Amino acid sequence: MAFYITTPLYYVNAEPHIGHAYTTVLADVLARYHKMGGGEAFFLTGTDEHGQKLADTAKKKGLSPLKFCDQMVEKFKELWEVLGIEYDDFIRTTEERHEKVVKAVLADLYQRGEIYRGEYDGWYCVPDERFWTEKDLVDGRCPDCGREVIKLSEPNYFFRMSAYQEWLVEYIGAHPDFILPPSRRNEVLGFLKKPLGDLCISRPKSRLGWGIELPFDPDYVCYVWFDALLNYISALGYLFDQERFTHLWPARYQLIGKDILTTHAVYWPIMLKAIGLDPPQTIIAHGWWLTGEEKMSKSLGNVVNPEDLANLYGTDSFRYFLIREMTLGQDANFTQEILVGRLNSDLANDLGNLESRLLKMVDGWWEGEIPEPGDYLEEDGELKGLAFQVAGRVEELVGKLKLDEAIEEIFRLVRATNRYLESTSPWRLYKEAKRERLGTVLYTGCEALRVASLLLSPVMPQTYAQIKERLGMEEEVAPCWDDARRWGLLVPGSKVRRGKPLFPRIKPPKQRVEELISWGEFKKIDLRIAQVVEADRVVGTDKLLRLKIDLGGELRQIVAGVGHRYSPKELVGKQIVVVANLQPATIKGIESQGMLLAATSGEDLVLIGPDGSIPPGAKVE
Ligand code: ME8
Ligand code: MG
Repeated sequence: MAFYITTPLYYVNAEPHIGHAYTTVLADVLARYHKMGGGEAFFLTGTDEHGQKLADTAKKKGLSPLKFCDQMVEKFKELWEVLGIEYDDFIRTTEERHEKVVKAVLADLYQRGEIYRGEYDGWYCVPDERFWTEKDLVDGRCPDCGREVIKLSEPNYFFRMSAYQEWLVEYIGAHPDFILPPSRRNEVLGFLKKPLGDLCISRPKSRLGWGIELPFDPDYVCYVWFDALLNYISALGYLFDQERFTHLWPARYQLIGKDILTTHAVYWPIMLKAIGLDPPQTIIAHGWWLTGEEKMSKSLGNVVNPEDLANLYGTDSFRYFLIREMTLGQDANFTQEILVGRLNSDLANDLGNLESRLLKMVDGWWEGEIPEPGDYLEEDGELKGLAFQVAGRVEELVGKLKLDEAIEEIFRLVRATNRYLESTSPWRLYKEAKRERLGTVLYTGCEALRVASLLLSPVMPQTYAQIKERLGMEEEVAPCWDDARRWGLLVPGSKVRRGKPLFPRIKPPKQRVEELISWGEFKKIDLRIAQVVEADRVVGTDKLLRLKIDLGGELRQIVAGVGHRYSPKELVGKQIVVVANLQPATIKGIESQGMLLAATSGEDLVLIGPDGSIPPGAKVE
């Protein structure tokens, strides 16, 4: 049975942030773990490109909606590349393959009376793209996000959602794994205690032109959610490639954040039922990444750029943090302090340390080759047994979606291996020339490292590839559970390769922030090319020169401490770089209206100038 896994289709109205990164990394990790069992996986992600909010944002930017989407989609794709995401398909709701399925579904539902024309009178939250009734509102605002809503009163088309309420309640009751975690399932059941209305699925073109036209009324476009949800089947070729579709549907896991629970756990299964399709097997609604107390979201503005984080800390380290730090279903806090603490304690201290000490010993004491193990003693057998046990536990926990606990198990093995090296003391064995015993200990340690990194590979694929290579494993074998349970795959005599530390210790971000300046701060410095027009020594000094410089039409005087390296004569006519917006200073009674740039190394000093001719006043940036 194929394993079809999806992420939400993200709105492209703003840049991707850490919440998007999380859901997508999670899908990638689950797909990779699935493939460790030898099965096939199909992983879909993509972008949601219709709706009012998108049209508004594009307009503000002065771009056509599609042009704006084209630009934003690249940012998502680039992020997925940086994060090592191996999706199988990326769907955009503006693609023809999607639009034709949406139209076919709409036409069919309309024809069968599942969609009807009526009058809409209520409220709309533009940022969330959600319809609300008067009684849904909290203090006159959107009950979900607390933002302002707008009044809508117009003829529209409706989907007979209410007719399926009872069916859905029964379905959820009979399928305990349909909505996970159980707290979210209960939330949906609670929501379904109130009568479910019909769903308004259209917007008049007179107000919103940007969307998929209703096949039965060209004056309307389809409501963005009704359109977007159908991506999960349009991407599989529903109606147009039935063989492929039936091979992959129903989805194994549909991942979402709890912000979009109702649309996925209520609207979506009912839409499928009305179409005549099975619901997905499991909808997983994870919690929110919080900074401070608030949910992090594009529209609230407190965004942490995931691409920067991955570049700063490393792709695998960032993936590790996301998966280790969030218990599926619960909220998690994000701060750079928490991130750095986690990376230093688990990756630098435990995993990185294990790898570097093992390879150092093999390199120094066994000619850089995987040793031949001798007879195993009890302590070796214990570590080997633990590795086997951990592999089983990890597979079981992944099946239960307890990824943070699975990682904890893997690190139990990593830490036990570090302790094993303490207690077997290979350095003593080396000194005492107990060669056979030394070989056994080093081999056992390396095998435990192999198993741990293999078990971690879906979360940290690059790290696994690196460790494998360092341990002298040349073959291209896809990671699989069997290899994690098998002991002795490292081949004695293979060459190991030591390298730079995999996870250098990271300074806490407080220090970094003080050391680093922002782009904005840098941009404040106005660097310009200037030409020296006149130069003479400041009387009574041997270092200071008074220069008259041309800044492109503007003449200025600066005082520079370069007189011990340059004579006034050789400076005249030279082009230099100056800080043009420095507050003036008086040096030895002479006003200096700027500062020139020079490179120094000990006593050496050379002026910085352009590498070719350029008019004075040119900006340096
Ligand atoms: O809702 N913490 O798109 P969206 C964790 N287009 N996850 C978060 C998060 C946070 N702070 N913020 C966002 C939409 N996410 C619709 C979906 S699907 C047919 C249409 C993640 O760009 C999480 O997966 O607002 C959440 O559900 C999703 O991004 C919302 O992305
Ligand atoms: Mg959102």
